[in-house]
Amino acid sequence: DKGEHKHFMAKEIAEQPIVVAEAIRSYMPTGADQVVLPDTDLDFSKLDRLTMVACGTAFYACLTAKYWFEQLAKMPVEVDIASEFRYREPPITDRTLALFVSQSGETADTLAALRYCEGKADKIVSVVNVPESSIARESDVALPIHAGVEIGVASTKAFTCQLSVLLMLALKAAADRGTLSDEELADHAAALRGLPSVLNTALDQNRAIRKSAQRLSEARDVLFLGRGLMYPLAMEGALKLKEISYIHAEGYASGELKHGPIALIDKHMPVVVMAPRDAVFDKTVSNMQEVMARKGKVILVSDDDGIAEAEDGVWSTIRMPHIHPSLAPILYSVPAQLLAYHTAVAKGTDVDQPRNLAKSVTVE
Ligand code: M6R
Repeated sequence: DKGEHKHFMAKEIAEQPIVVAEAIRSYMPTGADQVVLPDTDLDFSKLDRLTMVACGTAFYACLTAKYWFEQLAKMPVEVDIASEFRYREPPITDRTLALFVSQSGETADTLAALRYCEGKADKIVSVVNVPESSIARESDVALPIHAGVEIGVASTKAFTCQLSVLLMLALKAAADRGTLSDEELADHAAALRGLPSVLNTALDQNRAIRKSAQRLSEARDVLFLGRGLMYPLAMEGALKLKEISYIHAEGYASGELKHGPIALIDKHMPVVVMAPRDAVFDKTVSNMQEVMARKGKVILVSDDDGIAEAEDGVWSTIRMPHIHPSLAPILYSVPAQLLAYHTAVAKGTDVDQPRNLAKSVTVE
């Protein structure tokens, strides 16, 4: 049932404050600053490295989590696409935690990658939406994301729930490894608890985002730029747009722009810049100015401070609430999803059932 919404995708985007709250509650019980994992003795202090494997949107969740595990828990992390990983024959030691992320839990390549790690890795952990799925059943530990059934082929609420669970897992790793102080852990916990209400504020920008999307719907190609934690999100934003609007889009690390893609920029090229006012903001803005100097049309997604500082000459702005920098990729998923959604609606495509795609890819 779509309720008041025209599409399942719109409903699932709107549900995010509720399902993310549920995900957070189930790993960080009320009153605790500690992350508590269900039925497991998982101890990150005994591990040397983390290998994460997934496909599509779940892969971008893993790429985001790489930053968290490295920065917060000082853990070496490798991330790969399942279809590459399984044939690479990567060496896996018994001090490696192998982590598989999948909404459906039935993706054939991800399942094959998991089976490759059986008997090699210290433990096989999965982050899944369907607890009775094959990937969940074949893992030593299956961590549910609590997103509820996701029907739209374009993954939305599963992504933000995957990110929330992965961030909490990184915080658990940081606690086990003693890499964050109690104060820093409490800080993150408080920010996570505030996340659902901040997501609601982001959803209030729906109309402004629809306006920007109207303009995007006329484009042939769109670039998404971001740095640090916003880089995987740039790729996720591009994937969402491709999947449902059929507009060619690419996500790039802002700093890579001048190594090639800047050649594409002209007055017909919209460039979505994901730029919360964080430690790399100034660098992102200077990359954005290079785009504008070549007449590229910038849609700047930032907070009040960022927009006040950098809005000169941009095509349009999308205003996000302030957020703890670690949580920004979860929050900025909302405008990425809504941009794709409204662009597809403006183009009249089949949003929930895009051509050539299946919700779950159970063949190689
Ligand atoms: O069920 P999974 O999370 O394993 O699916 C992985 C990808 O097929 C999936 O994320 C796909 O990229 C989505 N259509 C993205 O919106």
